[in-house]
Amino acid sequence: MSKKGEDAPNLFPGNWDVDTEMLLKTYELWFPQNWSPVDLPWDEVDSKNFSSDECVAQAYWMSKLALFEKSGIGAFGLAALQAARHNLEDPTKKFLSAVAFDECRHDEICRRACARVCPNFPYNFKPRTTLEEKAFRNVTALYDNGKRYWSAFEDAWDKYPLELIFSSFFFAEIGAQLIFREVGERSKNGVYGTAFKNITKDESRHLTGTIAMMERISSKMDAGKKAMMTRQMKHGFIYLSPLLFRPVNDFWHLPKDFFQYDQKLEELAFGAGLGVPTLDERREDWMKAIERHRSKVEALGIQLPEIKEIGLAGLETNVKKGDEISATPL
Ligand SMILES: [Fe+2]
Ligand SMILES: [Fe+2]
Repeated sequence: MSKKGEDAPNLFPGNWDVDTEMLLKTYELWFPQNWSPVDLPWDEVDSKNFSSDECVAQAYWMSKLALFEKSGIGAFGLAALQAARHNLEDPTKKFLSAVAFDECRHDEICRRACARVCPNFPYNFKPRTTLEEKAFRNVTALYDNGKRYWSAFEDAWDKYPLELIFSSFFFAEIGAQLIFREVGERSKNGVYGTAFKNITKDESRHLTGTIAMMERISSKMDAGKKAMMTRQMKHGFIYLSPLLFRPVNDFWHLPKDFFQYDQKLEELAFGAGLGVPTLDERREDWMKAIERHRSKVEALGIQLPEIKEIGLAGLETNVKKGDEISATPL
């Protein structure tokens, strides 16, 4: 990204080209579908209505989600900048900028929910019980791993072809649309229900737009790049696994009892009205969500990766322990 001189990528003169009508239409939907996290009736999420364990459990899941929202802000923001520097068609830049803003809005939901139920969690939190200590420790461990993810994602722009990164965004959006729909439908608390229904609307738009980008860009790719896309999808699965399944330790280096407490906290959060699906539901639903897009992806000559953990058939794609992953986020 540091190339200088006459030939270096540059925002100017820019363009207003529209090559992919579908991408323009999807971007335009952002305006009528706009919603405000500020206007939700936040006083209905009141720590007085919950036990202290239920409070930290809700803040825990929201902080886990915030990891992926934060990487979304960074990745889509950076992608919008790269789209402009490399003179991609106009709706690509605007669509990606709108997605980056959506991710800010989702992170804002996480921030506000934590502030209501467990002020200062996780950044300035002082645990008082074992459960609080484990929740805080788990989130800290996730964020530490997140640093490795982000460094690899920044490096990817110098390592991989631009088209590969832009056409791989759609995979995470499949998972995003799925998880938020489920959380929205299962939440008993009205604020969470409304917030996640709105987030699902955003994610559905992200999925439509990223598929439009993928179809346009990948139709011109050679077989080698298409094979790289299969690998990117596997990376995406591994990166999102702590939220959408259970952490895959090829990448995630977490404490031994991480998952034991993760499950305990998720159950408590569910009991408090935050509709987190169970592990078995996540496994099955993620597989089905990917299957729904199989024919579209395969029609472009791109194979899905085999993902044994959730029972997805596809091309065997090995990711060794310690490999950096550069998946694109939610
Ligand atoms: Fe998001
Ligand atoms: Fe998204």
